[in-house]
Amino acid sequence: MTPRKIIIDTDPGQDDAVAILLALASPELEVLGITCVAGNVPLALTARNARVVCELAGRPAVPVFAGCDRPLARDLVTAEYVHGKSGLDGIALPEPEMPLQPLHAVDFIIESLRALPEGTVTLCPLGPLTNIATAFTRAPEIVSRVAEIVLMGGGCFEGGNTTPAAEFNIYVDPEAADIVFKSGVPLVVMPLDVTHRVLTTRARIEGFRALGTRVGHAVASWTDFFERFDMAKYGSDGAPLHDPCVIAYLLAPGLFQGRHINVEIETASALTRGMTVADWWHVTPRPPNAMFMREVDADGFFALLTERIGRL
Ligand code: RIB
Ligand code: CA
Repeated sequence: MTPRKIIIDTDPGQDDAVAILLALASPELEVLGITCVAGNVPLALTARNARVVCELAGRPAVPVFAGCDRPLARDLVTAEYVHGKSGLDGIALPEPEMPLQPLHAVDFIIESLRALPEGTVTLCPLGPLTNIATAFTRAPEIVSRVAEIVLMGGGCFEGGNTTPAAEFNIYVDPEAADIVFKSGVPLVVMPLDVTHRVLTTRARIEGFRALGTRVGHAVASWTDFFERFDMAKYGSDGAPLHDPCVIAYLLAPGLFQGRHINVEIETASALTRGMTVADWWHVTPRPPNAMFMREVDADGFFALLTERIGRL
């Protein structure tokens, strides 16, 4: 079976790192490249962290590109309070030796979509949508060539994690999200409503550690670190492992359930900036534009994730 071609757009971040590892461990996927964006931490660190993860996976040949270092129209908001100063706190890993690609991430996205057959490339944004929106604005002809966008972002019944109304990825760059959600590209959205159901419980973290591998130890260390903030905030048994839901969907879509609904992005209001206004009950005539997930088989998700991480 021909592997599915994907571009991962990311702001590592421990959960991004686990998503990247899951993708690199899975032969069903061909990671054409990893494009980095400012988000959890500034761009210099997300571009460093993506390479740290590739080298941890033993895949130094995966091309990594630096993209936009700030949102389209706002000041950058980062999340060191969750991810630590490095963005990958929890374990000390060597500085990357693999080079950053000279091409800008936006140009890589544009050139890949122009060069590859229409409908063969899936975009997997795990952070603010600045790179994707910039590519769509700079080269509108590539929009119709995208097979699908599967992204982590937004929230409905779970509200927001950055403001009461907004989830971080959308909050950081609402204008970029508005462009992507209005682009017409088939969208699959992994919002907080589903990611809050995949919690890194103690048993699940120990399952990573029990792999007895360097990668398993790193994932256990990252999730140990990453969970402290969310456990204090939500009083939950573990932290939501947001970004790997995107890759798990590509590998096992049946783990997830949701609805095809209309989702629009608030960009005008200061109070609700970055809110994903999800018409879950179809109370408006607005046409559906996104498969918005709400349910997940959490045990199945962690079984898949742990088995695949164990392959690295
Ligand atoms: O709100 C969670 C999202 O914001 C995740 O993608 C996390 O990595 C941060 O980017
Ligand atoms: Ca992320």
